[in-house]
Amino acid sequence: MVAVHLINGPNLNLLGRREPATYGATTLAQLEERMVGLAHDKGVQLTCHQSNIEGELVTLVQQAGLAGEGVIINAGAYTHTSIALRDAIKGADTLAIEVHISNVHAREEFRHHSFMAPVCAGVIAGFGTRSYELALDAIIPLLQARASRAG
Ligand code: DQA
Repeated sequence: MVAVHLINGPNLNLLGRREPATYGATTLAQLEERMVGLAHDKGVQLTCHQSNIEGELVTLVQQAGLAGEGVIINAGAYTHTSIALRDAIKGADTLAIEVHISNVHAREEFRHHSFMAPVCAGVIAGFGTRSYELALDAIIPLLQARASRAG
């Protein structure tokens, strides 16, 4: 069975009350519940994580990659600052999709750059919490292809 980790970074524990005009009214618990249900329907094992601590995110990304499991990651502001997260994805050969709720390219310039994007399979941004659902649809065939290559 394909296994995917949904990893949310700093301040995403505040979803639902944090800047709702930008990030919407859905709470993290509601988002995770929906994603687990969707994954279950698609025959995917989904595990949810959230941390405000960069090193914990690095460890999660490493562990997923070393186990051959996929990652859907919204690293929040660490997207724009963290070389460590980029190195974790690259170093553990983690199949990762970068996700953002908001369209970061339509916002402040400091949100336009991602250290992670070049080592991710792709980036999905700007579709609200549906960005995560699109990422789930995108990552499944990529993980299946990787698994069949690995034999
Ligand atoms: C975000 C965009 C980031 O720039 C911001 O720091 C976040 C959330 C998003 O999902 O739109 O925390 O990743």
